[in-house]
Amino acid sequence: MKEYKQEDSKVEVTGFEARYYDLLMNIVTLGRYPSFIRQAIADLHLKPGEKVLDFGAGTGRNALLMAPYVGECGHITGLEIGEEMKAQFARKTAGHENISLLDRRIDEPLPFEGSFDVVFISFVLHGFVQDKREAIIQNAHKALKPGGRFAILDYANFDVDQAPWYVRFGIRKAECPLAEDFINRDTEAMLRSHGFARFEASFYFGGHLRLLKAYKA
Ligand SMILES: C[S@@+](CC[C@H](N)C(=O)[O-])C[C@H]1O[C@@H](n2cnc3c(N)ncnc32)[C@H](O)[C@@H]1O
Repeated sequence: MKEYKQEDSKVEVTGFEARYYDLLMNIVTLGRYPSFIRQAIADLHLKPGEKVLDFGAGTGRNALLMAPYVGECGHITGLEIGEEMKAQFARKTAGHENISLLDRRIDEPLPFEGSFDVVFISFVLHGFVQDKREAIIQNAHKALKPGGRFAILDYANFDVDQAPWYVRFGIRKAECPLAEDFINRDTEAMLRSHGFARFEASFYFGGHLRLLKAYKA
């Protein structure tokens, strides 16, 4: 397996890409992103009163979609480090009492212990080298209550060589170089080694994207 350095990653979105992130997602998916992300968030099966930690929260688009499910008694806490992303998150979620944002790195130790029902990570985990992915999974496991779920919305595990040309092209020419490394690793095995015991998966975009819910024992 090829060795990557964190400098190969594109996960710290900045500049033009950060300013127009939501619009760019809509364009690259030919307008399918809004309905896809609504469906993926519905598939989280969030319940009123649940407390959610959103790792690499981005523009706040996902937090706004999650907030009605958890209601006034629940809460969404976004963790984000990108300056432009934090500014958009603050603008978009202003006035929503059940959403807040912390400027914290998700790949370094976090202060949360057994206090969240759900940790959500959307299109972030693939962009880290393997030892940082392990640190992020450990942070999620520690932050969750017993029985809580770690929900990873990201690439599924599949054979990139056998994928349609436009998927191969996107992954090999446009995506973060670490994406293919992530796709080639067994995500469930990775999660099991950190103490997650039970899994549920929903698939999108021809099975190439997956919401994987891993339950803490
Ligand atoms: C590809 S974007 C995805 C944003 C959002 N989760 C979504 O689905 O729209 C990756 C996000 O992770 C953030 N990020 C990257 N590295 C991070 C880190 N170490 N700690 C916290 N956030 C990070 C980036 O700033 C960016 O907002």
